[in-house]
Amino acid sequence: MEFEEWELRHKEAFFEIKEALSYLEGIFVAYNSNIDAIKHLTPEDLCHLLELFDQDALQERVELYPREIKEPLDILARLLLSMREGKAAEVPTYTPEIHSWLKENLGFDYARMGGQAGIITNLLARLELKKVVAYVPWLSEEQAGYFANTKNLLHPKIERGKLVLKHPKEAFKPNIGSKVNWIFEYSKGMLVDCGTDKFTVPRDNRLILSSRPKWLRLEMDQQIYAALDSLGPLDGAILSGYQMIKEEYEDGATYSDYVGNSVKAIEKLKALNPGLRLHVELTSIQNRLIRKTILKEIIAGRIHSLGLDTVEVANALNVLGEEELSYAVIKKGENGIIALYQGAVRLLQALALERVHVHCLGFYICVLAKGHPLNLKGHRNALLFASTLAATKALHGKVEGLLESEASLKVPVSEKGLEDLENFKLYCVGRKLCTLDEFEYGYVYGRDHNAVFVPSKVVSEPKATVGIGDTISAGAFTGMLALMKQNLAGKGKNSKRKEGSQTLETRVFSA
Ligand code: GLC
Repeated sequence: MEFEEWELRHKEAFFEIKEALSYLEGIFVAYNSNIDAIKHLTPEDLCHLLELFDQDALQERVELYPREIKEPLDILARLLLSMREGKAAEVPTYTPEIHSWLKENLGFDYARMGGQAGIITNLLARLELKKVVAYVPWLSEEQAGYFANTKNLLHPKIERGKLVLKHPKEAFKPNIGSKVNWIFEYSKGMLVDCGTDKFTVPRDNRLILSSRPKWLRLEMDQQIYAALDSLGPLDGAILSGYQMIKEEYEDGATYSDYVGNSVKAIEKLKALNPGLRLHVELTSIQNRLIRKTILKEIIAGRIHSLGLDTVEVANALNVLGEEELSYAVIKKGENGIIALYQGAVRLLQALALERVHVHCLGFYICVLAKGHPLNLKGHRNALLFASTLAATKALHGKVEGLLESEASLKVPVSEKGLEDLENFKLYCVGRKLCTLDEFEYGYVYGRDHNAVFVPSKVVSEPKATVGIGDTISAGAFTGMLALMKQNLAGKGKNSKRKEGSQTLETRVFSA
């Protein structure tokens, strides 16, 4: 695969999608937004934390693999597990004292908008979309202050019995607390030496400690639900935060109640906007019952598009009864590109999706059901656009706008990503999924699906890693919607209406 060619394709895709974005009417984004307290761990920080605990007790806790943080020792155990593999993870805590312990014993460097929906809302607002409607059930005044100060960013509010759209700063709920998560970022190459455990961190990544205060409920306000028709025209909805659902609540409610409400909101949004496409952004979900329920009851058959990383692919496969494939994905990580591709295809089929987008360090794979109205080049451009946005996020920790993103076109395409994709060539060509030429374009034609893969831009020393996945998924999904909308208007470069003779680059992959 040609490095230079992919650089050019990134450029072309960026400008094409930049132009197409103006065709979108609006995107709805719900549910989770929180404040991220970010701490970049130095070797000294780690030593200091390690000294606070007995090393044998720590090793025992590592083996127990805590799925919830009940006491500080659990944090250290999950941190070591995450750092050893360089694998991102998110672990909940229902214990408020953990927050004070961390403030006293570690502290944080800075606070930023967190939560997938919060991060995605700010990104889309800064891409200058006409309208981005965010919905956060626990929007506090403090939280509202973390939203971008742009006119296109709105939040529903009930005033005199009517739904009105206002900036979050004018739509928050008074007298509610804020959800603060701790993000422990660590860098590749850091040497960890504790007890019998000695390793070098293999990649930049992070562990998230997700606070789950008692009042946290993943739901839509009844009055807002009743007036969803007042949101105006929407092209897409990006939903996330379902991981917050608990098996049981103190008031006797169970996960079924919250799953039921989530499904109702999805069905209503779809009924009101027949052309609406929905994307769910997955994250780590420690509780297997909740993970399985989200996949089978909220996502399957209702959602069009799913965004996730390698670990999440493995975890999803695992609860869907695909243990062997799940193991193959997790064992080889991003080097196991064949297993990853097969895993994504399996998720597409098992969950009856239209699109599964897997983001990895150095490349993305997007698997598509046959019959998608956008051609493969369009999908490829959407992924490349996302790669440029991700480079911006990694460089600056946030995406300020299109102009700033244009500047990150200079971040080089990952050589390692190109190499990983080369390993995929033999498999694809050997199985007649594509010709050698088609492979060079990044196109794969399966029996019941097609796929696009691209190498991505990677910043060697990222400012932070948190939120990069959300940026990739939301950027690609929105870019895809924009191209589809532009094509509908007959204005797209690859619109079917304009396609006379189809070249390979513009081959429409549906029947
Ligand atoms: C999850 C975390 C949040 C973080 C986000 C980044 O939503 O709870 O703290 O900002 O992921 O993807």
